[in-house]
Amino acid sequence: MNVLVVGTGYVGLVTGLCLSMHGHHVTCVDQDQAKVDALSRGISPIYEPGLEDLLQAQLQANQVQFLSYVPTDVIIDIALIAVGTPSMATGEADLSAVFAVVDELARTLPPHCLLATKSTVPVGTGTRIEALLRSASRSDIRVASLPEFLREGSAINDTLNPERLVFGVNDAETEQQLRSLHAAIEAPVVVCDRATAEMIKYASNAFLATKISFINEIANICERVGADVSKVAQGMGLDSRIGASFLRAGLGYGGSCFPKDTRALVNIAGQVDYDFTLLRAVVEVNQRQRLEPIRRLYEWLGDLQGKSITLLGVAFKPGTDDVRESPSIELARELEAAGANIRFCDPVVKQFHDNGRHFEVTDDPFEALHHADAAVLVTEWPQFIKLDWTQAAKQMRQLFLFDGRNVLDPGEMEAAGLILSNIGYRPKHTYAVV
Ligand code: UGA
Repeated sequence: MNVLVVGTGYVGLVTGLCLSMHGHHVTCVDQDQAKVDALSRGISPIYEPGLEDLLQAQLQANQVQFLSYVPTDVIIDIALIAVGTPSMATGEADLSAVFAVVDELARTLPPHCLLATKSTVPVGTGTRIEALLRSASRSDIRVASLPEFLREGSAINDTLNPERLVFGVNDAETEQQLRSLHAAIEAPVVVCDRATAEMIKYASNAFLATKISFINEIANICERVGADVSKVAQGMGLDSRIGASFLRAGLGYGGSCFPKDTRALVNIAGQVDYDFTLLRAVVEVNQRQRLEPIRRLYEWLGDLQGKSITLLGVAFKPGTDDVRESPSIELARELEAAGANIRFCDPVVKQFHDNGRHFEVTDDPFEALHHADAAVLVTEWPQFIKLDWTQAAKQMRQLFLFDGRNVLDPGEMEAAGLILSNIGYRPKHTYAVV
């Protein structure tokens, strides 16, 4: 098939390349000319394992091309919209990029194309797109919802081997076309109407976020009652009705999806006069959880004024260079406001901007920890887990270490001379063996 993908972020680029691997001819469009130039030369603008190799292979095979405009001289059977839908101040998803693309596609798509949304869009957006197309005299274009479930860091594998496909369609022809597009993928398909597909995406992310906030609350209680949250999660997760995934307590969820989508779903509910109490609490718990180390830092250091604090990890999770809504940045803002000096370390992120300010990041933990009064492990990169902590401790002025992801072995840290705290109490010796 001939596929047009508009937007070359994580979703658009990975989807486009994976479809091209399956033999489809893919044209990826992005308004950022510099990005298009880099992609055309085989350079990926984002860090995602395996992505650059895949890009180069598909360029070489002539299965994919990158343009900064929607071409009118290329055959297109299906157009996918994969542009950003960031949060507005109200929490509502900003659809201006989506509608700008629809506007352009209304002028450029050949007759009887299928247009599907990959971007996470509020329930009812498909219907709004259809209305826009109708008012542009393009009722010939059919509209579908094709939500994406890939995770950053494992995006290619998630796209090639999804646990399910969801087709939000209004007619059998569209369903058939989407089945053909995904013919190379073996996965259960949920066929439903567009609004249902749009809701499946939000409900999935909201449920995963709920699991995280739930275990984080349990962790905070564990710390106060002297229980071990890691074992609690293990004991809960072995119940197949609960499942073990997304029960890792830590500094909460970040990234470009969960924070935005949970806020958007609260907003969607509000627009139909429904107070989504549970999800509001999930968002609030997450906000508080990011700042959990601060309480302990005050206990350890008294005053934070002039103290040197190292944040290990800037990416919102390992395996990506994405810093959007990263707990590290939020934590740094608060610590700076309390007068602390912050140093950042990350194996992949080299620099970032926050509120117009530029921050440098070193990839050398020893350099970052030099003369530190305390360190907080924010992102569980393997480089930090495997660090020679005895040597690391020698760099530090004071030996306080907060493990914000519960990945460091308390016994090992004690042997290195470090004073360790983490999320939820984790005793050094435990007799529970599974
Ligand atoms: C998430 C979903 O997992 C994808 O299915 C979805 O397609 C994507 O959002 C999206 O909507 O585009 P992603 O944000 O890449 O994917 O990352 P996750 O691996 O889901 O992690 C999200 C956040 O939760 C991270 O900050 C991670 O550190 C945190 N997390 C995850 C925990 O704190 N505890 C856990 O047990 C699991």
